[in-house]
Amino acid sequence: MTDSPPQTRKGIILAGGSGTRLYPLTTGVSKQLMPVYDKPMIYYPLSVLMLTGIRQIAVITTPEDGSQFRRVLGDGSQWGLSLTYIEQPSPDGLAQAYILAEDFLDGAPSAMVLGDNIFFGHGLTEELNRAGSRPTGGTVFGHRVHDPQRYGVVSMDEEGRVTGIVEKPEVPPSDYAVTGLYFLDGRAPEWARKVKPSARGEVEIVSLLEMYLAEGSLDLARLGRGYAWLDTGTHASLLDAGNFVRTLQSRQGIQCGCPEEIAFEQGWIGAEDLRAQAARFTKTEYGQYLLRLI
Ligand code: TTP
Repeated sequence: MTDSPPQTRKGIILAGGSGTRLYPLTTGVSKQLMPVYDKPMIYYPLSVLMLTGIRQIAVITTPEDGSQFRRVLGDGSQWGLSLTYIEQPSPDGLAQAYILAEDFLDGAPSAMVLGDNIFFGHGLTEELNRAGSRPTGGTVFGHRVHDPQRYGVVSMDEEGRVTGIVEKPEVPPSDYAVTGLYFLDGRAPEWARKVKPSARGEVEIVSLLEMYLAEGSLDLARLGRGYAWLDTGTHASLLDAGNFVRTLQSRQGIQCGCPEEIAFEQGWIGAEDLRAQAARFTKTEYGQYLLRLI
């Protein structure tokens, strides 16, 4: 008997949650639909999955917000994607996403990104592809921060291998915070089911990652100098992220988080598809940029 071929990696964007730190902005609209300069926030994490070559993606939303995400993203076919929408009845933790997406994943390895995380940097695609090509185990992405006390922080041995993850440590074991991007193999849903809810009642992602750690199969990809990892969870950080994107785009004449561009580069859509997309946005620099790509 021959082994069946490895399954193609699928994507998850976790776009539920309550967004209470952005009140009153988010009392009527989901955080992940807030503008980050010229695009809805979710464009940026979506672009990260697309750069990894992932085309089957589940978007997890609150029951109230699902219809608005559908309006913005559709079925994904305009970008050569297949998007599935899954509702999370209440925000019971990041690792719950794997349980909710179990049927969608159907045993495939996955890349999950939090809908409010923005990544940018030269070499990011290579890092993503490296993580994406590991058939078993998991990869987390650590980003150097000046205030690790606020985050989940990795401890490492001399070789730079991850030995533990500590939540909001008073004395941080390193400067590397665990970002909201997780590559896990096909066992993640089964293992997530085994996670006991924490004191705050959530299925914690750290508990799931610790299972991979215990097995010795958790890798750390370090995003050092030259990478931006932006959080958008507070009013100030949302504005900072918008200003960052604006500066980058206007100085360099490139787009950050442009699904049409990535789909075109990946060969998932052709010039005519791109022209049709650009026609929707003719009054904007975004639309002009799409036309210049052709
Ligand atoms: P958080 O920033 O922890 O929470 P939140 O977005 O609800 O915001 P706040 O703290 O202001 O109330 O969530 C990180 C990301 O994960 C964010 O994109 C929302 C998402 N999320 C879910 O989709 N489901 C969940 O159960 C949780 C806890 C978060």
